[in-house]
Amino acid sequence: MNKHSSEISLAVLHANTRHDSGPKHVTGTAEYIDDMIEPVGTMHAYLGLSTRAHATIKSIDLDAVRAAPGVIGVLTAEDIPGENDVSPSHKHDEPIFAVGKVHFWGQPMFAVVADTRDAARRAAQLVKIDYEDLPHALDVRAAQGAGGKLVTEPLKLERGDVEAGLASAPRRVQGAMTIGGQDHFYLEGQIALAIPGEDEDVTIHASTQHPSEVQLMVAQVLAIRHHAVTINIRRMGGGFGGKETQGNLFAAVAALAAKKWNRACKIRPDRDDDMQATGKRHDFVVDYDVGYDETGKILAVDANYAARAGFSSDLSGPVTDRALFHADNAYWYPAVRLRSQPLYTNTVSNTAFRGFGGPQGMLAAERWVEDIAYALGKDPLDIRKANFYGTDTDNITPYHQTVTDNVVDRVVEELEASADYQARRRAVIAFNKTSKVLKKGIALTPVKFGISFTATWYNQAGALVHVYKDGSVHLSHGGTEMGQGLHTKVAQVVADAFGINLDTVKIMATSTGKVPNTSATAASSGTDLNGMAALNACDQIKARLVAHGAALHKVSESECSWVQGGLQAGSTFVPFGELVASAYLNRVQLSAAGFYKTPDINWDRAAGRGRPFYYYAYGASVSEVTIDTLTGEYTVDRVDILHDVGKSLNPVIDVGQVEGGFIQGMGWLTSEELVWDSKGQLRTHAPSTYKIPLASDIPPVFNVKLAEWSVNKEPTIGRSKAVGEPPFMLAMSVAEALGMAVASVADYRIAPRLDTPITPERVLMGVERLQAETRA
Ligand code: MTE
Ligand code: HPA
Ligand code: MOS
Repeated sequence: MNKHSSEISLAVLHANTRHDSGPKHVTGTAEYIDDMIEPVGTMHAYLGLSTRAHATIKSIDLDAVRAAPGVIGVLTAEDIPGENDVSPSHKHDEPIFAVGKVHFWGQPMFAVVADTRDAARRAAQLVKIDYEDLPHALDVRAAQGAGGKLVTEPLKLERGDVEAGLASAPRRVQGAMTIGGQDHFYLEGQIALAIPGEDEDVTIHASTQHPSEVQLMVAQVLAIRHHAVTINIRRMGGGFGGKETQGNLFAAVAALAAKKWNRACKIRPDRDDDMQATGKRHDFVVDYDVGYDETGKILAVDANYAARAGFSSDLSGPVTDRALFHADNAYWYPAVRLRSQPLYTNTVSNTAFRGFGGPQGMLAAERWVEDIAYALGKDPLDIRKANFYGTDTDNITPYHQTVTDNVVDRVVEELEASADYQARRRAVIAFNKTSKVLKKGIALTPVKFGISFTATWYNQAGALVHVYKDGSVHLSHGGTEMGQGLHTKVAQVVADAFGINLDTVKIMATSTGKVPNTSATAASSGTDLNGMAALNACDQIKARLVAHGAALHKVSESECSWVQGGLQAGSTFVPFGELVASAYLNRVQLSAAGFYKTPDINWDRAAGRGRPFYYYAYGASVSEVTIDTLTGEYTVDRVDILHDVGKSLNPVIDVGQVEGGFIQGMGWLTSEELVWDSKGQLRTHAPSTYKIPLASDIPPVFNVKLAEWSVNKEPTIGRSKAVGEPPFMLAMSVAEALGMAVASVADYRIAPRLDTPITPERVLMGVERLQAETRA
């Protein structure tokens, strides 16, 4: 590889800089935790999982496990010096190892520690457990039927007079929508490698989006102080929210073993176990009652958002909250009442997943838009436009935040034109008139996504920047890299601040020893937060360098300015390397810790009021599909996207996020189906039974554009906007287009109401249902 590739890595903010690890990703030289050289004597742990959904553990016999070849020992709850808990919500409802009872099929009960991973895995199968079954509730409706036990307090949002709005509405629609879950299917599974140190110390390489939380959990489990635990992570092979909390348990098990036997310990479940034992996207059932008028304007919305939370609280509170925050998508509701219902179920504890409940909230909004359109015989796009937030009026959300940066009209208008939506819709309708078996559908859907952690205190970040005597720079910040390009963007910020080349900035592994008390890299805010913290560190060093440069060259500080390559001090140009070298000799500190907190946000959950989001990201997509009405099979033929990332820090990386987010969203809405059997066992726990999109599922025409005119109204880093999650929801247009194709068999007179995932079976059942209703 060319080490001097400055022609593409010239440090400019807003430039098309490739991902710092791109060449290493494609040549296989990027180091993941399982690639690291293992310390001598590394042990390997494997989890023993429950095979009941809900049961009392009458007895557990581990003798055969302990006697198996290569086994060093077994860990159970009794081996935990501190708390047997890794609950991220601190509700103490998430044991590492089940005690007394198991609450879902796949729940960890013990861990085998052996010389090799294979030996540990084989030994784990030799356990003998005597269970006594208890009644279980697996899904939303079952949990509601069993009394509706919640894992955490629900949220209620209300604005306007809903009763009056519904009662006086000329038209009304009621319904229920079932929205499927999703497995993260990160290519690198969960993994942790713990290395014991002296005294209480332990260092863990953990595939996690939230190193500071893993640190806290390990300290809590080992009953030691946070300062004894160091968590490192250079990169993940994908996280997607699945490593915001779900890595806690693996790191804790590795740390327990490492400290107990004073040897390094690695744990890496295989894919089937990873899928059964770790949480997923929440599936939802949304019950709704919507009042509207003859023009399609929505007057009142009353809706309940029930989610399968699983056996513990995890992040189900904040996830179901965000579903409510996006129950409006881009639409203004004159009167609205929304309730969340995070239901306890005897399934794995569901967790963060790209969009964090937002996609589920928005999809339900698109469902009632669709209901209204078909009831009125209109194009759903007309209903969407009729209900968009205004700019000066009609701009208050159900949580009482005023939308001040609305660009949805412009995004939709431009996309409608560039995708030639109107003509293509006419062509689709004409095609459907003559085509007997194949039917087409087309849809344009908008996205408006709120940026900030709704847990306001999470909206802070730190960075640590060192400048060495040779002018090279060492960059640490609190964010983690999972493929999204965060490290590249923050390095661009630093290179730009100092006016140096990008390859002068070395990106360090994220470490709790470098930057403390960090937030999860989540809520799409990694760049917003860490980019600003890094800039703050650079600004401190720059201020000292300017003072030094001014004194050295006998000019005032106001006569100094940063230019590409160094400092202009009056008439003298001082290259960065020279400036730094002389600053060192003059005892100027060349290191700084930076900090940032998002301004102007607040949220009162009990009151359901505030400004939880600093700003919104917008986008829209058009999808065209063809279905086969005899088999239900379909293709996504063309997709056009226009997405708003403000002033992009790195357009190629942002386009990659938009493309990847869209395809992942399409998988969620179409082919990815989670199936639990009646006993509570997840039957789709490998790629053989769980179908993620393939390269061949990318639409043959895929036009992705960034809204180049967009500039964040707020002073974010480079006036950019977050990009990680919002594009995921652009995939809603695929679902809506499939709905239109299905509705064509009944001449668009019946709302298609397809629940998700819209598998070929669901398409076929939809076609047959609509055909039957037309005949009736
Ligand atoms: N992109 C890649 N390649 N891999 C990932 O795991 N995670 C997504 C998104 N894009 C993810 C990704 C999720 S869920 C979030 S919240 C953001 O990236 C997190 O990173 P950011 O805040 O730096 O955008
Ligand atoms: N998004 C993603 N992750 C989170 C959030 C959020 O709003 N809150 C807590 N963890
Ligand atoms: Mo992303 S779901 O906020 O990790």
